[in-house]
Amino acid sequence: MLTLKLSADLASDKILVNAVCPGWVRTRMGGQEAPRSVEEGARSILWAALLPDDGPTGGFFRDGERLPW
Ligand SMILES: NC(=O)c1ccc[n+]([C@@H]2O[C@H](COP(=O)([O-])OP(=O)(O)OC[C@H]3O[C@@H](n4cnc5c(N)ncnc54)[C@H](OP(=O)(O)O)[C@@H]3O)[C@@H](O)[C@H]2O)c1
Repeated sequence: MLTLKLSADLASDKILVNAVCPGWVRTRMGGQEAPRSVEEGARSILWAALLPDDGPTGGFFRDGERLPW
């Protein structure tokens, strides 16, 4: 809901607001059993951070793909 509300409030300022799931990642929190490397998890977040001005906003993504919620 915060993603949706912020994306609506900031659209006129051309600021995109999205939520990103990195998947289950081998960090201190994720633990060594997690299937994804830090690089794989970070790639999704970089994708969102580097979106062009006309990119999506108010969405939930992993690996650049929109997830249902
Ligand atoms: N790992 C996963 O599978 C996964 C999946 C989905 C979402 N997430 C989310 O991704 C985020 C990062 O998780 P992570 O897996 O990268 O965890 P992590 O390896 O445990 O890293 C957590 C980071 O947060 C910092 N931190 C914790 N408490 C802090 C505080 N009070 N002030 C400032 N910094 C603080 C830690 O700093 P120090 O190193 O200095 O302690 C560390 O750099 C979390 O919000 C987590 O819920 C993770």
